[in-house]
Amino acid sequence: MMKKLALFLLPLLFSGYLSAQELNSEAKKVFIDNLLSKMTIQEKAGQLRLISVGGDLTLDKVLDNIEVGEVGGIFNTIVEPDLSQMQERALKSPNKIPLFFGFDVIHGHRTIFPINLGIASSWDRSVMAKVAEISAEEATADGLNITWAPMIDITRDPRWGRVSEGFGEDPYLTSEAGRIFVERMQKQSLADKKSLATAVKHFALYGAVEGGREYNSTDMSERKMFQEYLVPYKAAIDAGSRAVMVSLVSVNGIPATANHWLLTEVLRNQWHFDGVVVSDHGAIRELINHGVASDAKDAVRVAIKAGIDMSMNDEYFLQFLPELVKEGAITEDQLNQACRRVLELKYDMGLFSDPNRYLDPKLDIETMFSNNRLHREEARDVARRSIVLLKNENKILPLARNKKIAVIGPLANSKRDILGSWSGAGRTNLAVTPLEGIKNTVKNPKSVSYAFGANLSDDVNLYRFLNLYGENTKFDDRPADKIIAEAVNIAKKSDVVIAFVGEAEGMAHESSSRTDLSLQASQKRLLKALKETGKPLVIVLMNGRPLTLTEEYAQADAMLETWFLGTEGGNAIADVLFGQYNPSGKLPMSFPNNVGQIPVYYSHLNTGRPRGTENMGKYTTSYFDSPNEPLFPFGFGLSYTDFAMDFSLSSPEMDKEGEIVVTVNVENIGDKEGMQTVQLYLQDVTASVSRPVKELMGFENITLKPHEKGKVKFTIKYDMLKFWNDKMQYVAEPGKFNVFIGSDSTTQNKQTFTLLDK
Ligand code: BGC
Repeated sequence: MMKKLALFLLPLLFSGYLSAQELNSEAKKVFIDNLLSKMTIQEKAGQLRLISVGGDLTLDKVLDNIEVGEVGGIFNTIVEPDLSQMQERALKSPNKIPLFFGFDVIHGHRTIFPINLGIASSWDRSVMAKVAEISAEEATADGLNITWAPMIDITRDPRWGRVSEGFGEDPYLTSEAGRIFVERMQKQSLADKKSLATAVKHFALYGAVEGGREYNSTDMSERKMFQEYLVPYKAAIDAGSRAVMVSLVSVNGIPATANHWLLTEVLRNQWHFDGVVVSDHGAIRELINHGVASDAKDAVRVAIKAGIDMSMNDEYFLQFLPELVKEGAITEDQLNQACRRVLELKYDMGLFSDPNRYLDPKLDIETMFSNNRLHREEARDVARRSIVLLKNENKILPLARNKKIAVIGPLANSKRDILGSWSGAGRTNLAVTPLEGIKNTVKNPKSVSYAFGANLSDDVNLYRFLNLYGENTKFDDRPADKIIAEAVNIAKKSDVVIAFVGEAEGMAHESSSRTDLSLQASQKRLLKALKETGKPLVIVLMNGRPLTLTEEYAQADAMLETWFLGTEGGNAIADVLFGQYNPSGKLPMSFPNNVGQIPVYYSHLNTGRPRGTENMGKYTTSYFDSPNEPLFPFGFGLSYTDFAMDFSLSSPEMDKEGEIVVTVNVENIGDKEGMQTVQLYLQDVTASVSRPVKELMGFENITLKPHEKGKVKFTIKYDMLKFWNDKMQYVAEPGKFNVFIGSDSTTQNKQTFTLLDK
């Protein structure tokens, strides 16, 4: 059929009426019009159905559904023989429409990279690009065509477990990550066989749930939405993301899945998004609980009218859409529109010309999970760049490789935890634990002794929660003091103690909100006992969110934030501990001193009564029992060397057409080679609305040898000065701007320029 079409359209190209691109889009239109004209309403509804095998939907049932044209896409199947079988059945369906296959490729696929909060800590665009490219390569090699990623919700509340999946609190850093993931996963065109379509998520504001409680509501001024929370989604759409996944929560009183303003007025009309809008898992059904649909049929009506195209884990679209069209509650045009978008995506994926182009029937299970499909070298490099050095008293790190080392803690040898959540295609047996990494690195592995030290928690309910779907976290039922005594014993015989503490991966996942962000009591007891040995104590944190760590910070001689680093995590940690890599990571989220401070983020507004240095407590914005500032600020991270910085502006003023170049002189004033992330922040001093005290507007990395000097440049352009003003117009207002340069968001290293009124 494609051949016939081409013959029909080719003369138009040569006649000069259509460009090659237009010809392609014209051919696509003709092809899809033709297809739609042959499809029944039932089949059109089927194309909007995204299901996975599981529960009542056995593989056989799914195959039967596919064959009668009742399925548009499959998700969560990554086992090749099943995928090929499904596609074969789709080609037997009435109109032979191929399926696409989706999966959550969140931080790697077969090779697991650090969780996204870790990737963000690299503050390195090339690292993000590498992760996205390898993930897409591995996922497409497994037959997948689309992923529910990247997750670009701004996250400022560490009580929410899903902060682990995003890139932190800042719109600029998250937008950069989102843009890079979209560009590198999708590549130039979906026609590329290694291209994986992205569905950015969760549109919108999932990261702003009240109280950090999972699936709770969000309520926010439009100004804050457009200025901060919607920015990364817009960046991802502008980068060409072909799909969007909708958030499960309600936005200003209307569930996102039912929110016409969000999905149609903003996404389609203002942002001109013409890809596929996918609901989240079970979201249509949930509209009844939300109280905006009276029953299942009503929920389908509300969702499709709001702007949902495909329904994930759907039981209702197929069941009720044909009836709703018949009754006139929705028009066939509305159904056609949604169906057309799905077919367009499949067309662009090249599935109509070669339905099996991503599939490889020769891929047997053993090969699929084999070690030689992994990108270990890249995983190790990304992992070590994601580590953040939080403390290094008396330069205790890096350690010499010939020391006697005690490796202690419930996370020191856990293959499951180091992979982090959303690592379904990874294999725990292929992961390197910290204990293994350290043994691989030291001169003599016998100089390393290990003890479990403590259970992750004393709380049996937490274990029940973590092990709901299989034993992920083991409980050692020996008496707690015996487990600690064993650890103290080996600590006493060692030169240095490295304690691996934090969270189980399942504590930083979907549906894992916490109200208490401190380490569990069992781990605190262990650290206290280790500290009492008097041995130098290195605390290595493994966790998926900012924790409250004031006590541990005081105890530690050195402290590393390592998140969940993925397949090569253990080797990467050893690289940093022993100085094969000089840590360069920076925090993408502020770490609060205590839960009461939340939300604590650097880019807040000033108040009428800012907290000064004098008269701290009274009648200024403050807590009388806590500092305002976080324990570790956004952008913070140490190195084994030190850097000095100063900067100048090319001009004290600029106009609309102009720009200002910021030149930063950086010098490595320490004795080790190292990388520094130079951060540019701007502040609009006076405007028609209050503007944040500082906003990140640029970052660049520079690697310098000891005593070497270098330069980093940024260009400030008019567009970077724009914001949503008092009339909700996106403009720049003339006046004074502060430019801050530094190595974290607390920098007071400042210069000023004026934006002229012309
Ligand atoms: C999550 C999504 C995910 C989907 C499919 C849902 O529970 O909220 O982020 O993409 O499941 O796995």
